[in-house]
Amino acid sequence: MNVVLFGATRGIGRALARELAARGDRLFLIGRDLEDLARSARDLEIRVGAGSGPIGVARADLLEPERFGPALDAAWAALGRVDAVVLAAGLFATQDALEADRALARRLLEADFSGSVLFCEEARERLLAQGGGKLCVLSSVAGERGRKPVVLYGAAKGGLTRYLEGLDHRFHARGLRVITVKPGFVRTSMTEGLPEPPFAADPEPVARLVVRALDRGTPVVYVTPIWRWVMLVVRHLPRAVLRRVGF
Ligand SMILES: NC(=O)c1ccc[n+]([C@@H]2O[C@H](COP(=O)([O-])OP(=O)(O)OC[C@H]3O[C@@H](n4cnc5c(N)ncnc54)[C@H](OP(=O)(O)O)[C@@H]3O)[C@@H](O)[C@H]2O)c1
Repeated sequence: MNVVLFGATRGIGRALARELAARGDRLFLIGRDLEDLARSARDLEIRVGAGSGPIGVARADLLEPERFGPALDAAWAALGRVDAVVLAAGLFATQDALEADRALARRLLEADFSGSVLFCEEARERLLAQGGGKLCVLSSVAGERGRKPVVLYGAAKGGLTRYLEGLDHRFHARGLRVITVKPGFVRTSMTEGLPEPPFAADPEPVARLVVRALDRGTPVVYVTPIWRWVMLVVRHLPRAVLRRVGF
């Protein structure tokens, strides 16, 4: 597959890039720091050997939507046809930090909702223009219900999840395959220092599950799968119960 990956410098995105590169997929990386991107590209090239050619990179920041189009155009120019666009970039902060810092809250809401949605709009336009393709986005289980520890982050991810569902309905018949990934707690730089809940996972097995969903075009995937059942219960908890518990 020819895959464009936004957010491969750390965490789940990096594990995903390694997994895809290892099996011979051609990659193009988008991120906000060109030096970091070049380092990531070199690391991947070394892992897969020189045979697959250099990995292209382009700069874009989730907070600068005007960069999305040119970055994706560069990806299309480098890869020719694009089979999948993956958005693994995202921002997290604790609810306390977000309540204390309105500018941080604004950045998070922009990165995880409007920036992410606008990036997907640019990607789906290009995928549809070539007759279809896959759009895979990392949302979160945090968007399933309004909950005390993730009021703002959860709202952004919940909005993103809803947008992706609508996109799937609207463009499925024209060949767009939307894959919404809902991770639970994954041990990455994003969660460093946070108390670890049950079912915490490492990025590598999560990345393998995302690759499988990408191959199959699974519309919604919980990683790891236990979260599907946890969230089934959480989605059905009465509001009065959810208000009382800290979860
Ligand atoms: N880890 C979890 O427990 C968990 C759970 C549920 C959902 N998720 C979601 O999964 C995705 C990946 O998370 P992760 O754990 O891999 O996080 P991570 O290790 O913190 O990596 C985040 C990635 O996003 C990029 N990024 C952050 N802000 C950006 C911006 N404004 N513009 C462009 N790129 C930006 C980072 O680039 P730099 O290297 O330049 O900073 C990095 O590549 C996120 O959408 C996150 O919300 C994670």
